[in-house]
Amino acid sequence: MKERLITLIDSALDTLIAEGALPAEAKRPAQIDRTKDKSHGDFATNIALMLAKPAGMKPRDLAEKLIAALPADNAVAKVEIAGPGFINFFQADDWLTGLLDQALADPYLAVPRPEQAQTVVVDYSSPNLAKEMHVGHLRSSIIGDAVVRTLEFLGHAVVRQNHVGDWGTQFGMLLAYLDEQKSEESDTELSRELGDLEGFYRAAKQRFDESDAFATRARSLVVKLQAGDEDCLALWREFNSVSLSHCQAVYDRLGVSLTPADVRGESAYNDDLAQVVSDLDARGLLSEDQGAQCVFMDEFKNKEGAPLPVIVQKADGGYLYATTDLAALRYRAGTLHADRMLYFVDQRQALHFQQMFSLAKRAGFVPEPTELEHMGFGTMNGPDGRPFKTRDGGTVKLIDLLDEAEERAYTLVKDKNPQLDDQDLRTIAHAVGIGAVKYADLSKNRSSDYIFNFEQMLSFEGNTAPYLLYAYTRVASVFRKAGLEMAQVSGDFQLQEDAEQALAARLVQFGEVLESVAEKGLPHLLCTYLYDVAGLFSTFYEHCPILSGDNEALKQSRLKLAALTARTLKQGMELLGLSPLERM
Ligand code: ARG
Repeated sequence: MKERLITLIDSALDTLIAEGALPAEAKRPAQIDRTKDKSHGDFATNIALMLAKPAGMKPRDLAEKLIAALPADNAVAKVEIAGPGFINFFQADDWLTGLLDQALADPYLAVPRPEQAQTVVVDYSSPNLAKEMHVGHLRSSIIGDAVVRTLEFLGHAVVRQNHVGDWGTQFGMLLAYLDEQKSEESDTELSRELGDLEGFYRAAKQRFDESDAFATRARSLVVKLQAGDEDCLALWREFNSVSLSHCQAVYDRLGVSLTPADVRGESAYNDDLAQVVSDLDARGLLSEDQGAQCVFMDEFKNKEGAPLPVIVQKADGGYLYATTDLAALRYRAGTLHADRMLYFVDQRQALHFQQMFSLAKRAGFVPEPTELEHMGFGTMNGPDGRPFKTRDGGTVKLIDLLDEAEERAYTLVKDKNPQLDDQDLRTIAHAVGIGAVKYADLSKNRSSDYIFNFEQMLSFEGNTAPYLLYAYTRVASVFRKAGLEMAQVSGDFQLQEDAEQALAARLVQFGEVLESVAEKGLPHLLCTYLYDVAGLFSTFYEHCPILSGDNEALKQSRLKLAALTARTLKQGMELLGLSPLERM
């Protein structure tokens, strides 16, 4: 409510400034206080006293002008001037309780549907298939998925695009090696070897470096692959399907909503690449530089002022990552009819995406109004603040990381609840362990680097998944103790205590928060919100006995508040891709 009043006053000040009644420099955010005596309303501000001097007016006169300029708001029942020029606000109680009742009655918790639902194409995860997924793809998958779920909840049509790297020169080496191993090994041996893609890649690379004959064969396979040779394509498909099934296993384990149907890899655009280049040429955007086909755009220069071209075709005729992205942009606009495209990709590709977006619009591949946004993120670092590596300096495999998280969670939960049977322990350990890894990533602003720390993310205190999951079970337990279903509570809200008011006021902000998550692609806003709600509930729970009082109407009101808290926490966690449990 305070923020709401600040915004209202802010807009009234703008009106006075526009009318020339107040110098623009004098503007400041209003200070809003809760009143002690309810006969003076619920909130008061001294803004008219503060600004009277710069406005050259008596405080009461300024207060009167301000009140006249206040936009109408149905949260405010009445506004009055008091004393030397204070402004008192009377909150419309039925406004807040009305919102709470609407939320309780609605499966969508009264979160408003957008006036115009958009088609949003979201590019996320997008690993390279030549190697196993690594921790860098964890961030993209987790953050992207939370935003996707939020967009869908809000009513937008989301098209997931897993733009996997399934094409390029490294495939020559892999195919040559696959072919070689096929003739030497049994199928089971080979599939075991492919089970460790990382090892397979290393072995292929070693052969490539050691043997000239092998390297030559690898290069010729790339050429054959690109020419569409059937045998070569068959090998390539075989390799990719193994690699994709590894990715899918990670998604399933993580609870990331991507499926094989969302994969549209780089190779899908092969046939469009020549057209992309010739269209750029037709629009006069292309220049040749040392044999390569390039686009120079004035706004892209390095610090020294030297131009930073986009290379779309190499001197040897080969196409690049950028060419494929241009083809993808065109497909997403033209065939998928995106109103908005989001790319959850490492921050280090920021320049690449700026160039792609400018060029795609300039070339007419994407209509002007389409929103193109790179949702970049920082690096995931180890506890030493350096990029996350295994003890011997290798890249950390995602699967190993998730195994460790679940194992640690298992030990923790078992220590807390030794009486649980093993089946339950495993279920809880999965929700806590995987949830902890995801939440640690989600709860920080994605643009900053973040430090991966098992102890911290698995703590039951602070803004962590275990804390939130546990907070939810506490709310749920209120109903178990009362022997009631959440849907059974009824009666009118009565918000008497500050703790009730504060919790209620925060609960009705759920929709606004989701709106910001969807708009900015920042799931940490939802994490902060849920953490806040859990904290406010805990204060409410301490100060306002729910079940022990003998005032039945008050008990119902408090149960309703608890029910809405539970549903908000649960829905919020599901949007983040966590698995809330009823007890743990
Ligand atoms: N495969 C790339 C990588 O692992 C990310 C692709 C992101 N998406 C895109 N449309 N470029 O770095």
